[in-house]
Amino acid sequence: MKSVRVVVVGAGVIGFSTAVCIAEALPLCSVTLLADKFSPETTSDGAAGILFAAKFPDIPLERQKCWFKDSFDHLLAIAQSQHSPEAGVMLSSGWQIFKEVPADKKPFWSESVIGFRNMTEAELKRFPDHKFGQAFTTIKCECSSYLPWLEKRFRKAGGKVEQRKINNLQEVSHSYDIIVNCSGLGSKTLVGDNMVYPVRGQVLKVEAPWLQHFIRDGDGKTYIYPGIHSVTVGGTRQEDDWRLQVDEEDTQSILVRCSRLEPSLTKAKVLSEWVGLRPSRRNPRVERELVQLQGRRVPVVHNYGHGGWGVTLAWGTALDALGLVRQCLREKQLQAKL
Ligand SMILES: Cc1cc2nc3c(=O)[nH]c(=O)nc-3n(C[C@H](O)[C@H](O)[C@H](O)COP(=O)(O)OP(=O)(O)OC[C@H]3O[C@@H](n4cnc5c(N)ncnc54)[C@H](O)[C@@H]3O)c2cc1C
Ligand SMILES: *[C@@H]1O[C@H](CO)[C@@H](O)[C@H](O)[C@H]1NC(C)=O
Ligand SMILES: *[C@@H]1O[C@H](CO)[C@@H](O)[C@H](O)[C@H]1NC(C)=O
Repeated sequence: MKSVRVVVVGAGVIGFSTAVCIAEALPLCSVTLLADKFSPETTSDGAAGILFAAKFPDIPLERQKCWFKDSFDHLLAIAQSQHSPEAGVMLSSGWQIFKEVPADKKPFWSESVIGFRNMTEAELKRFPDHKFGQAFTTIKCECSSYLPWLEKRFRKAGGKVEQRKINNLQEVSHSYDIIVNCSGLGSKTLVGDNMVYPVRGQVLKVEAPWLQHFIRDGDGKTYIYPGIHSVTVGGTRQEDDWRLQVDEEDTQSILVRCSRLEPSLTKAKVLSEWVGLRPSRRNPRVERELVQLQGRRVPVVHNYGHGGWGVTLAWGTALDALGLVRQCLREKQLQAKL
């Protein structure tokens, strides 16, 4: 049987996860990953990569739970294997703290992480501005290591990689049978999904090897995430802000807010500063569509718009996208028989 040509657009954590899932599960497909930018230049590269999530409004909670659990279990296996340092995946324990007791005291992902519990009064004492908190062990996935590791895995499964910017779907519709769209914020400009918008995030990397626990304010704006080589401190959430340059005021504000939670940070050396634009959308788009392109109906599988939770949901949504590619294949076979 002639092999089916699949192209995955995007080399961030969504694109590479999806490409690996397809290449490993469907050896009859020849899979090409095509992107404008690769590691270390994607949004994914700078993400803190800590696993937890907020609820998306219109996607059934069961599906969101699966996305989270599939991702968590996949990364947990890596964290507990010999691949952990090369893949940049580690376990991370710590606290999420709240100034007011949140309405949702038991997030939907609490059963997927390890040892989720309320913090005790004694533990909360060191955070005098905070009333409530949750302690648990989750995963930190550092994409600057994880993406090159996934790329190796993809090539080993026979995948091909091409660096190119595409301006529209027609450009690739001739050479491929199925298009998988993991272009993140690029989806906005490609042909214009106006539901995708940037949420600007600035973070710093600091040297503070004495810190072993993450601390995250429940409002999502202030966080301290110890990693393998440095500690990521942040952050900002500026909607519809396209500025990619570092903002000195943001830097100062991050250092002040984080030192309030962890006073020893005033002793930490700042190693680097970074800005990324979260590819945000009311709900991520993980669905299949037939697009009419130059007289041909081309199956397109979309997988983009993960906002601030792309690292968390990458493997789970990639498995969903693989299921959608399988459906496309089944329909192709049916067509061929008719
Ligand atoms: C400061 C910050 C902290 C974060 N922390 C976390 C966290 O702790 N946990 C978490 O889960 N998430 C976090 N995120 C969110 C996470 O970074 C994103 O959800 C994730 O990176 C999205 O991945 P992606 O693959 O969709 O997009 P990207 O990484 O942006 O990749 C998009 C790819 O598409 C390609 N592309 C786009 N348009 C075209 C085109 N026209 N032609 C060719 N190629 C194209 C690009 O070149 C690129 O390769 C954070 C984000 C920021 C900014
Ligand atoms: C955690 O705290 C909340 C709020 O006080 C409470 O409703 C909930 O029952 C607690 N959960 C456990 C497991 O103690
Ligand atoms: C990706 O999806 C967006 C939104 O529908 C669209 O504008 C863009 O053309 C798609 N890109 C590819 C390569 O499929």
